[in-house]
Amino acid sequence: MNDNLWYRDAVFYEIAVKSFHDSNNDGIGDFNGLTMKLEYLKNLGIDAIWLLPFYKSPLRDDGYDISDYYSILPEYGTMEDFKNFISKAHSYSIRVIADLVINHISDQNQWFIDARSDKNSKKRDWFIWNDTPDKFKDARIIFIDTENSNWAYEAGTKQYYFHRFYSQQPDLNYDNPEVREEMKNVIRYWLNLGLDGFRADAVPYLFKREGTSCENLPETHEYFKEIRKMMDIEFPGTILLAEANQWPTEAKKYFGNGDEFHMAFNFPLMPRIFISLAKRSNRSIIDIINQISDIPDDCDWCIFLRNHDELTLEMVTDEERDIMYNEYAKLPKMRLNMGIRRRLAPLVDNDRSTIELLNALIFSLPGTPILYYGDELGMGDNIYLGDRNGVRTPMQWSYDRNAGFSKVDAEQLYAPVITNPNYHYESVNVESELRISSSLLNWMKKIIGVRKDYKELLGRGAIEFINNKNQRVLAYIRKYENQRMLCLFNLSRRPTYVELDLSNYKGLKPIEAFTKAPFPRIGDLNYFITIPPRGFFWFNLIIPETDDSMDFEGEDNY
Ligand code: NOJ
Ligand code: CA
Repeated sequence: MNDNLWYRDAVFYEIAVKSFHDSNNDGIGDFNGLTMKLEYLKNLGIDAIWLLPFYKSPLRDDGYDISDYYSILPEYGTMEDFKNFISKAHSYSIRVIADLVINHISDQNQWFIDARSDKNSKKRDWFIWNDTPDKFKDARIIFIDTENSNWAYEAGTKQYYFHRFYSQQPDLNYDNPEVREEMKNVIRYWLNLGLDGFRADAVPYLFKREGTSCENLPETHEYFKEIRKMMDIEFPGTILLAEANQWPTEAKKYFGNGDEFHMAFNFPLMPRIFISLAKRSNRSIIDIINQISDIPDDCDWCIFLRNHDELTLEMVTDEERDIMYNEYAKLPKMRLNMGIRRRLAPLVDNDRSTIELLNALIFSLPGTPILYYGDELGMGDNIYLGDRNGVRTPMQWSYDRNAGFSKVDAEQLYAPVITNPNYHYESVNVESELRISSSLLNWMKKIIGVRKDYKELLGRGAIEFINNKNQRVLAYIRKYENQRMLCLFNLSRRPTYVELDLSNYKGLKPIEAFTKAPFPRIGDLNYFITIPPRGFFWFNLIIPETDDSMDFEGEDNY
């Protein structure tokens, strides 16, 4: 197999350096702490890490406001620490991609300090200036809870500058060739230090044109194709993952003709998984998968349930958004901008079956799954922290002081650990969960392991939905070469049954993938099966070697 396609079968894991482990006890996680925890990630079965921004930054947007693209925030460690982390990760066969914040920078960046100081500054044209805030009126505002315009006034030179996010994050001017070149240099710089690729931030917004929404413009696609070409030539095997929160047709375009992004986050699917659950109906998932499945060869959707941001609801209908708010965000504090700022476990009321079902979906739908740190433990959140900080609290390692994250006094932590009784770190932590065989963490290890047993099938296989009269059940078959996996999900909270027309698979025998439990071979009649509330099954369909009458022979280790 071509190793350059490593991302296709990988399980990804998203980490904030600050949140993972504090090695020098100053209350802030760091690269050395991260290095110490690589073994944990290896044992969990992680193949690749996505690092949130770790560059020098005043942290007005938690590092998505970079003040120096060529250095690391000192609190996170030194360049040596970074290199050591990368080489240790590679020694565990774990690849590392990092955020590439390309659309905007920090207003504390020297480029912007120069640009704002003087209209004749050489850097002036690296940004977008106007005498009035009237240009690009059709560009929507993204941080609607904090910003009321995409323009901010610069009193010194009496002009406005354009910013798509916080006003402290001026957008770069991609019409300027120096900017385009500089970002390529940034890319080269970090790839030379050993990164395996980038998660590119806010990709739709690079180029702006009057009279458009200033999103997804052809010039933006062209530029990413140039970057891709450069990476393919100069750094083969490195990848680009797009953060493009868009409607399906636009999101899909970031794969180009297989010559743009290797992967893109599956923003179209993510909210619709939760909508399907809320409506106890498979329709939303089937509709969306049918819309987004035809992507170029060797491209993959990156499938996620949660990340460090709010669960965004910008690209759903008003009706769907209402369903989401009613089901998952009953308190106003649970909402932010157009989304829900909660972690996975609290979103689903800490219901274990639902958490398992959701993970079983992202591990078996076409694409590459990515986990958000702590969600493998069922970590809680803190909706009383501002912005998106409630889902960015310290990783919970043990029931020791500060959840084993740091030895400082609790007041000195960058954020408090979770102590809500339902999610208290004294029980929701790595050490405790490893000791209990039935813990969520051990279940997550199991599903990652099963996924690896069938990684080509589940990573690359085609999907075929099996029609059935019961909308509560989502049923599909994944196929790859001569392998077949039948996946069934009861989206409702009551037990139910399905009758499936599996005539195309007559003679095959379903073997439950987690336990290897045999089920009756598929015959002439519809296949009948019952599923518990929020239950799921993955059945490997095999050519049977024994008769069904042998099903209850032999040992059962479960
Ligand atoms: C998307 C990132 O995920 C988010 O955290 C950030 O605030 C914006 N882009 C702006 O960079
Ligand atoms: Ca530290």
